[in-house]
Amino acid sequence: MTNPRAWQYDETMFSGVDFSQAEEVAAYDDMHSKFRDYAKASDEIIQRLSLTSDSTVIDLGCGTGAFALHAAKRCRTIYAVDISAAMLDYCRRRAEQLGLTNIIFRNGGLLTYEHGDELADAAVCVAVLHHLPDFWKQVALKRCCEMLKPGGRFLLFDIVFPSGRDCLDEIDQWLKAFETIVDARLAEEALIHVKNEFSTYDWIIEGIIRRSGFQIDTAEYSKGFQALYICTKR
Ligand SMILES: C[S@@+](CC[C@H](N)C(=O)[O-])C[C@H]1O[C@@H](n2cnc3c(N)ncnc32)[C@H](O)[C@@H]1O
Repeated sequence: MTNPRAWQYDETMFSGVDFSQAEEVAAYDDMHSKFRDYAKASDEIIQRLSLTSDSTVIDLGCGTGAFALHAAKRCRTIYAVDISAAMLDYCRRRAEQLGLTNIIFRNGGLLTYEHGDELADAAVCVAVLHHLPDFWKQVALKRCCEMLKPGGRFLLFDIVFPSGRDCLDEIDQWLKAFETIVDARLAEEALIHVKNEFSTYDWIIEGIIRRSGFQIDTAEYSKGFQALYICTKR
């Protein structure tokens, strides 16, 4: 991982939850399995991106392998990329346990990963982009676009705030709901997310996606500030 400019944002410095810490990695799947079904969500991604057994897919910010480990059973090659060596090691160990041999692990970030191999059919970026300030989000998505074949597909999922309504009270309720539905630890992580990380407005994300070389095929905003964008490289 090289950082060509002294002023480039240092993506190894986590502004919020520090995923380089072993304790965060160890707790991740237990906490997330309380409100996510990795297999079901991965099947939906595969279907939404029309991925096949011949597809190559880059999972940017793969984490513990929520998508990569499932997608590897359905696609030809998965590039599992993460800035956290600890997350990537965990994902690699899980892949070994599952006997998956078609995942290529790369320690790198949205701003630093160099995809030297063949252009990919698709990329996914789930709950990662909010780690970068807005200026760097566009740098990241342009880089992502360049890793894809013409017509390549891209799925972006993240927490995005609605610009059309005042959502400050809604954020209060949202944070309280984490404590009720999941647990106090996730509620604390959600608070850190809002306070210190870089989730931004819908119009900013949509503008960034378009200016990075993608067309947005669908933009879906659902409960809990969740946003899902299905895109195609123009
Ligand atoms: C909330 S987790 C999401 C992991 C996974 N995508 C999922 O769906 O569970 C965020 C992940 O993004 C990684 N990450 C944070 N900033 C990153 C960056 N700039 N480039 C690549 N990965 C990054 C973290 O190390 C962590 O594994």
